[in-house]
Amino acid sequence: MKSMRYSLAAALLALGATANAADSPATLKSAFQDYFMMGVALNQRQFTEQDTNGAALVKLQFNSVSPENVMKWQSLHPRLGPDGYNFGPADRYVEFGEKNGMFIVGHTLVWHSQTPRWVFEGEGTNAITREVVLQRMRDHILTVVGRYKGRIKAWDVVNEALNEDGSLRPSPWYRAIGEDYIAKAFEYAHEADPDAELRYNDYSIENEPKRNGVIALVKKLQAQNVPISGLGSQTHANLTQPSAELLDAALTAFAGLRLPISITELDVNASQRGQRNQSADVSQNAQAVGGDVVDAANQKLADQYASLFRVFLKHHRNIKLVTFWGLTDRDSWRRFGTPLLFDGAWKPKPAFDAVIAEAMKAGDAK
Ligand code: G3I
Repeated sequence: MKSMRYSLAAALLALGATANAADSPATLKSAFQDYFMMGVALNQRQFTEQDTNGAALVKLQFNSVSPENVMKWQSLHPRLGPDGYNFGPADRYVEFGEKNGMFIVGHTLVWHSQTPRWVFEGEGTNAITREVVLQRMRDHILTVVGRYKGRIKAWDVVNEALNEDGSLRPSPWYRAIGEDYIAKAFEYAHEADPDAELRYNDYSIENEPKRNGVIALVKKLQAQNVPISGLGSQTHANLTQPSAELLDAALTAFAGLRLPISITELDVNASQRGQRNQSADVSQNAQAVGGDVVDAANQKLADQYASLFRVFLKHHRNIKLVTFWGLTDRDSWRRFGTPLLFDGAWKPKPAFDAVIAEAMKAGDAK
């Protein structure tokens, strides 16, 4: 037993883990193994292992990965036509996940953002039509999902289709195709890989109007036998929102959909401005970053993470995966909000210990 402990500590150190982690060998994936998988969104430097410390930390702590940017339409398919794809980085991402035995997520097929303009424009003097845009969507989904069939286990098929009031966002997809673009996207993805989990993914869906909108949308798709098989709640939080009560109410309501729930993009913005603006819309990020990090930020961050995980654990039977949107604060799209469990030197923050402690408490209560 003793020699096992020493060899584990040595292995952790060899992987670049901190002395802190070696003293307390609990990792996220081991602490939560009875409840849900623990995932992280990767950037290219991590999955190519150019960031050696980052890659080692990912392997040590997580058993699922998401691609932060390399599978967005703009990255994968920048130009029109069969030669318009660029699979290099996405292939490396999937290879990294496979090599490390991880549950691999694809993000994202149909989104209003990071989609090139050509997708919605006619060729030459031809006006664009619904049929042409649908055909482009189908080609993209069949090509991309088909390429990673059986290897990518879950796809964010449609991303952020709703407004804050729960109505459909007037996105370029909606305008070009009409409301059934959502059903079509799921049908094409299912055609390409009948075994993949197909998720609808959105942010701030704890809030009641948007929560009701998601539930109505999913129920409508289910009534039409559309092959939706997962719900993604991004959960870009701040220090007070969502509250435990709001999150609990939302997860209780989502359970009625009888779909596995994934927390897909978890982070907690601790910057002053981040307390006002909760939107995950990329265009609004500039308004939500900057300014000083709130006082005693580490403690407040730890408290909010503990509160969120208490609720996730309460709902663990319906939650299959919790994914952080980035590894360290330095990698984060909200880096000024120091929103993650590891600091820029790959060291666990008090929030990491708080999250592990919630898993331990849940284990003791069993
Ligand atoms: O790749 C270029 C690089 O070549 C260039 O030097 C650099 C200069 O700014 O920009 C790089 O691209 C940026 C990319 O992130 C990689 O860092 C884009 O400009 C920037 O727009 C992009 O932001 C991403 C954003 O989505 C838009 O795609 C964020 O990293 C990513 O965290 C964020 O993630 C979204 C989810 O996909 C959906 N839900 C909300 C979430 C947060 O907005």
